[in-house]
Amino acid sequence: MADSFDVIIIGGGPGGYNCAIRAGQLGLKTALIEKRKTLGGTCLNVGCIPSKALLHASELYEEADKHFADMGIGVGELKLDLDKMMARKASAVKGLTDGVAFLMKKNKVKVFHGAGAIAGKGKVKVTGEDGEAQTLEARHIVIATGSEVTPLPGVEIDEERIVSSTGALELKEVPKKLTVIGAGVIGLELGSVWRRLGSEVTVVEYLDRVLPGMDGAVSKAARKLFEKQGVKFQLSRKVTGVKTGKDGLTVVTEAADGGDEQSHEADVVLVCIGRRPYTEGLGLDTVGVETDKRGFIPNEHFKTSADGVWVIGDATHGPMLAHKAEDDGAACAELIAGKAGHVNYLATPNVVYTFPEIASVGYTEEQLKEQGRKFKAGQFPFMANSRARTIHQTDGMVKILADAKTDEILGAHIIGPHAGEMIAELALAMEFRASSEDVARTSHAHPTLSEAIRQAAMGVEGWTMQM
Ligand code: FAD
Ligand code: NAI
Repeated sequence: MADSFDVIIIGGGPGGYNCAIRAGQLGLKTALIEKRKTLGGTCLNVGCIPSKALLHASELYEEADKHFADMGIGVGELKLDLDKMMARKASAVKGLTDGVAFLMKKNKVKVFHGAGAIAGKGKVKVTGEDGEAQTLEARHIVIATGSEVTPLPGVEIDEERIVSSTGALELKEVPKKLTVIGAGVIGLELGSVWRRLGSEVTVVEYLDRVLPGMDGAVSKAARKLFEKQGVKFQLSRKVTGVKTGKDGLTVVTEAADGGDEQSHEADVVLVCIGRRPYTEGLGLDTVGVETDKRGFIPNEHFKTSADGVWVIGDATHGPMLAHKAEDDGAACAELIAGKAGHVNYLATPNVVYTFPEIASVGYTEEQLKEQGRKFKAGQFPFMANSRARTIHQTDGMVKILADAKTDEILGAHIIGPHAGEMIAELALAMEFRASSEDVARTSHAHPTLSEAIRQAAMGVEGWTMQM
């Protein structure tokens, strides 16, 4: 007889494993199917974690190279041991993927390693690497299969010289010239890693700005700072092909609206023009789960168009972020268990882990204008923040947008030191529907970077106090 469960989750990334943990905690008999050897999905294996490990190490390398001497610290000749840096990254990944496996045991989740496919109502077929298949049964099936790299026609990824983020996290040596296609979050994070380690980085971006989803003021400041660091941008241009030669690659570009063909040489090309939902071979048609034009599975409170089939994380709508997938996972398990479950995407923060970091939550100024919503804005530069001055990290600013009438915070945008940690305060403020005056009247320790948040909030009120 087939193994039977309350819930079967297909995909062991942040969406799937958090859904499994919560389902286990709520007493549901839960199975998790993952086709990778390790749990943790894109995020732990080839995404958030390895990229942040390399961002951290490369930032320290650059700090030692360019800034230690200014602080009176001498370290002798700087050397890069890339293999060791990669090994340390791998150990961070292993520690966390092992941790997820432990959490599955702790929460009594049965893990099946193999490819899962829906095989009719309440049935999931799992095929192991050896080709052996078994069919499991459940009242509820959760799709948590995540996303994959969006391919670029004419540019074939081989993960050696023409790489996706996965290959860019595993390069065997520092490329002399790296071309990045797409000035989005992966392009700027992984472009930063290799630039710090010695690559000449050129970023080709289709639109006329970097980080197009971010608030305009932040995106403009980011471009200037990256240029100052030595990144070259080719904006409003598209890559039409990459020719592979024995000695290197030739990247052919033209203007975004056509014409003006140009080319340049590169040793490695990184393709990062976005990610698309991954639902290949999932048997969606066996139960009638619909997808939209871009392949996403639409949902209504995580329910798909098929009875008993749910969807969470990158495979469905909303920001393609690990913490969003986690929140979806927990809320979905709660709904399956008959409890209330809800995720507020407006208060989901978004962080780019470059130097300086860039973080945002809520609406951008451009979005509010598009909505015709009346708002007030407050902005405060780190140049005027005492802690930023003491650590000589004065680039950037905090910007807060609040409703013109009610003063409710509608969006917050930070570019500057530790922006990724600081945005949590504003995400919490938005979750509690705080006003900018609430933040402005909250005591913030001195001297801290977070005082810049308070000052920006005071700026909305028109009573900024610091210099
Ligand atoms: P995934 O993590 O993609 O997990 C899906 C899992 O399902 C995979 O393990 C896959 O093998 C498995 N699977 C798919 N199909 C099947 C099947 N048929 N049977 C069995 N298993 C299957 N987000 C952040 O918030 N912060 C970051 O710093 C960050 N950095 C990133 C850096 C990079 C380079 C990349 C590529 C992404 C990054 N992300 C980051 C995004 C983040 O990784 C994703 O949003 C997140 O992993 C989505 O979680 P998920 O559970 O929906 O899917
Ligand atoms: P992205 O959507 O962030 O950026 C893609 C960029 O490529 C955009 O600027 C877009 O205009 C540009 N582009 C699209 N087609 C192009 C073309 N043909 N030529 C040139 N430019 C083109 O996508 P990215 O960087 O691939 O990352 C995918 C997703 O992974 C992110 O959207 C995010 O959800 C997630 N991620 C999150 C991270 C974080 O939270 N720190 C880190 C890395 C990834």
